[in-house]
Amino acid sequence: LYGKERLNSSGINLADSDAQIHLKQALEIASKQLWHAAPIVDGHTLTGRVKTILNPADHTDVVGEVTLADSSAADKALQTAYQAAPEWGNTHASERAARLERAADLLEEQRAELMALIIREGGRTIHDALGEVREAIDFCRYYAAQARHHFVHPAILPGITGESNQLRLTGRGVFICISPWNFPVSIFTGQITAALAAGNSVIAKPAALTPLCGAYMVRLLHEAGVPKKVLHFITGSGSEIGMKLVSDARIAGVAFTGSNSTACQINQALTQGERILPFIAETGGQNGMIVDSSALPEQVVKDVITSAFNSAGQRCSALRVLFLQQEVSEQIIEMLSGAMDELLIGNPIHLSTDIGPIISLSACDELQRHCERMDREARLIKAIPLPQGSEQGSYFAPRIYEIERFSQLQHEVFGPILHIIRYQASYLNEVVDAINHSGYGLTLGIHSRINSIIDYITRHVRCGNTYVNRNMIGAVVGSQPFGGEGLSGTGPKAGGPHYLQRFATERVVTINT
Ligand code: SER
Repeated sequence: LYGKERLNSSGINLADSDAQIHLKQALEIASKQLWHAAPIVDGHTLTGRVKTILNPADHTDVVGEVTLADSSAADKALQTAYQAAPEWGNTHASERAARLERAADLLEEQRAELMALIIREGGRTIHDALGEVREAIDFCRYYAAQARHHFVHPAILPGITGESNQLRLTGRGVFICISPWNFPVSIFTGQITAALAAGNSVIAKPAALTPLCGAYMVRLLHEAGVPKKVLHFITGSGSEIGMKLVSDARIAGVAFTGSNSTACQINQALTQGERILPFIAETGGQNGMIVDSSALPEQVVKDVITSAFNSAGQRCSALRVLFLQQEVSEQIIEMLSGAMDELLIGNPIHLSTDIGPIISLSACDELQRHCERMDREARLIKAIPLPQGSEQGSYFAPRIYEIERFSQLQHEVFGPILHIIRYQASYLNEVVDAINHSGYGLTLGIHSRINSIIDYITRHVRCGNTYVNRNMIGAVVGSQPFGGEGLSGTGPKAGGPHYLQRFATERVVTINT
C-alpha cells in the first residue's frame, strides 16, 4: 500500500519518435477542437451565461466556452448530492475503489487527448501536462488502495470479555472540492477521488480559469461508474458560486487548494452557524532554499532553475527565496545567470519549451507590479528577454533579484521571479528564523553535504515538505505526501496515508455479546 502493492503510473519516453508522433497528432486534433464546460448536475448539462476561454499562450486561439452555473444550479447540486450521500457511503468500499481504478485506466487510455487540453487551456508545458495526468492516475489508484485498506473492514479493537469493539470509517456527506488553475487536472482529481473513496458525494468547483479540464475529468469519472447523483460539477467564480456552496447548511466538509486569502474566507464561512466541519486546505508558500559552501554548484544551479522557473514559477511548491552562503554566492549567481540564458520561453505546444505563459494578463500585471517595487528596493541580477511573438500570449520574463531581508517580500509572488539573500555561515539561525517568521511552511530546499547542518535546518524550520540535494517541486503520490503547515494549510497531506481519513467520520460500535 505504501509503495509496495501499488505502482505509480509510467511516463512516456518523449525522446522516442513514435511517442512524439502520437502526441503531436493528439495535439493537432485537440488544437482544432472547441471544448465546452457547463454545470453538470445529476448527469444533466445545464444552460446559462457563457464565457469564452482563451489559450494563455495565444490569445487568438479560442479553446472553448464555459457555461457559468447560477445559484439554482448550485442549489440543485447540493440537494441531489445531499440525498445521494447515504447510499454512496453505504456502497461497499471496494466497489467505490473499483470505479476509481477504472477511472485511472481511462485516464491512461485518454492521456494524449487530456494532455493536449491541459496545454491549451492551462498553458502548461508538455512535460508538466504529462506529469499532471500521471499524478491524477496515481491519485485514483492510491486512494482506491487506501479505501480498500481502511474502509472495507472495520478495525477490531480489544475489550473486556463478552464485548466486541469495532471502529468503522464512513463518509461524512457532501464534500465541496475547490481546486486551482495551476494543476487543473491532478489537484482537481485528487480532491474528488479522495472524497469519493471515503464515501462522500461531491460537488466539484474548478478554478474559474480552467473549467474545461474539470469538465473533462467529471465526464471521465462518470464514465468510470461514479454515479451521476453522487458527483456534480459547478462552474463559476469562487467569490460568488464557491462561497455559496461552502456556506450551505447541507455540506459536510470542504477540500480546498488555492490562495491563502481564499482559504481564510472559506474558513470564516464554515464557522458561521451551528456547525463544526472539516476543512482541508492547501495554500501557498514563501518557499526558501538554503545553499551552503559544501553544496555541489552544478547540482545547485540545475535544481534552482527547475524549482524556481519550471511551470513559469506557477507552483505553490516553487522556490521563491534562495539563501546563498556568502563564500559561494558569487560563483552560483554567475552560473545561474548563464543557465537562465539557456531557457526557452515560448508556446508550450513545442517539446523544447522550458517556460510557457502565465495563466492570465491580470496575473502578469501583478508580477509586473512586484517587479516595479523590486526595481526600487532590490538589485536586479538577471532578466531574460521575451522572444518575438510573445505578445500573443500572457508571457512574463523570468528574473532574479537580490534582496537584503526576507521581510521585503510581503506575500507569495506566483511566477518566475527568484529572490536571493546572501548569508554568513555563523548566522544560519537567522535564516531559519526568517523562514519561520514568514508564517508559511510549504516546501524547503537544502543543498549541503554536512549532516549536522541538514539536521539543524530540518529540525528547526517549520515546513511540510523538505527536499535535500535535489529540486523541490513535483511531489510524487505515495512517496512525498504533499501539503504545508501554518499559513500554507491544514493538512493532512494529499497523496499520503492519512488524507482519506479526514474525509471520513469514525464510528465505534460496542456490542455486549
Ligand atoms: N504538488 C505540487 C508539487 O509538488 C504542487 O502543488 O510541485
